[in-house]
Amino acid sequence: MSTKSVIVALDIGTTKVCTLIAQKTHKSIEILGVGSHPSNGLKKGSVVNIEKTVESIRNSIEEAKLMAGIEDLESATIGIAGNHIYAFNSSGVVPVKNKEIDQADVDRVIEAAKAVLIPSEREIIHVIPQEFKVDNTTGIKNPIGMRGSRLEVNVHIVTGKTPLIQNLIKCVEQAGLLANSVILQPIASSRSVLSQEEKELGVVLIDIGGGTTDIAIWKEGSLLHSQIIPLGGNHFTNDLAVALKIPHNEAERIKMTYGTVLADQGRNAETMIPVQGLSGTKAREVPVSYVAEVLSARALELFDVVRDVIVERNLQDVITGGFVLTGGGALIRHLTEYAEYTWEKPVKLGIPTAFGGMTTAMQHPKFSTVLGLLQESRYESEAQTHQEKRQDESDMFDKLGKTLKNVFKEIF
Ligand SMILES: Nc1ncnc2c1ncn2[C@@H]1O[C@H](COP(=O)(O)OP(=O)(O)OP(=O)(O)O)[C@@H](O)[C@H]1O
Ligand SMILES: [Mg+2]
Repeated sequence: MSTKSVIVALDIGTTKVCTLIAQKTHKSIEILGVGSHPSNGLKKGSVVNIEKTVESIRNSIEEAKLMAGIEDLESATIGIAGNHIYAFNSSGVVPVKNKEIDQADVDRVIEAAKAVLIPSEREIIHVIPQEFKVDNTTGIKNPIGMRGSRLEVNVHIVTGKTPLIQNLIKCVEQAGLLANSVILQPIASSRSVLSQEEKELGVVLIDIGGGTTDIAIWKEGSLLHSQIIPLGGNHFTNDLAVALKIPHNEAERIKMTYGTVLADQGRNAETMIPVQGLSGTKAREVPVSYVAEVLSARALELFDVVRDVIVERNLQDVITGGFVLTGGGALIRHLTEYAEYTWEKPVKLGIPTAFGGMTTAMQHPKFSTVLGLLQESRYESEAQTHQEKRQDESDMFDKLGKTLKNVFKEIF
């Protein structure tokens, strides 16, 4: 098998590192190997311990390699999240002299939209076009081949703190792989979980992980907003540990086995649960209703933060399709029902869409990001081949675009 046809996705999460090895086929991807290993070196989505993170990545890669029967891997597409991510919208405009708009014009106008002043410790991770305008015609997805005198674009720009991005890349390199691209985690999860129809209609993707909750808001097929909230499943577990005075491991077990945010639905609220306290103390019993009280308080806080994000950006009216919750943290019982009741919009659990080589075990919300990274990786490697073909042409327009950077806008 040629190494060129092998693609690797790496999701370095707060609770687990997950590796997928796949082969690009003519029209799809075939998963060959899966590795998942507990992660101990991250806090709220950012690397805080390089050594531990490298070890988790290495173990996860080894497991995937063994299953795939592949020895040598070159590079991987990696996901990024963390509190340091800051995303915003920008726009650019260039003259096109009444000729047919070509790829070089599109590159130029995107370059113009990137001409914003980014603080020196930050770098751009994505510049994603939302819509193009040619003269007075708006809502254009692909302006190539159209005629006009003025080309405009609205873009969504995602930035992150350079040292934190570098830490992540360094960990991957120390584990033996090059990072060929870095993708914002909720963009990856959106790819594996949302349908094109949902993205057109208007939908909020919410990936509740262990350390962070990642948001991506879509409308008319465009990414309108993305944000990382430093609050995830671990906070629910910590709340239980504190409220029940039990160790973290026991709190995690209680959350997984009995955890619910609506005690009076399904399980009897008065059902008593045996809990093991701190070492040396006797096992006790607590009612399910108390566990639900603790977990629902945290859920409500998370729902309020999400609502604030939407209201601050005035996006209440665009989300016709409602909300899709994914990530392992979305699995707390009745969370979707509780969210639907709170937000008064349709809410569903987002499960990754199946493709080649995907087992049923992988159709789980905690694998949404890594599966999306793999799909993005395939798309990116195709785009790159296309990019290579027109490299000379784009180099020339890159230079032209850069002169437009003199028109700086202060945004931070
Ligand atoms: N069945 C379940 N019920 C309740 N919570 C669950 C369940 N399964 C997993 N979780 C929770 O999901 C969280 C982990 O989710 P996930 O694997 O998506 O996170 P991650 O990708 O490692 O973290 P992050 O994306 O925040 O960096 C943990 O807090 C875990 O307790
Ligand atoms: Mg995650």
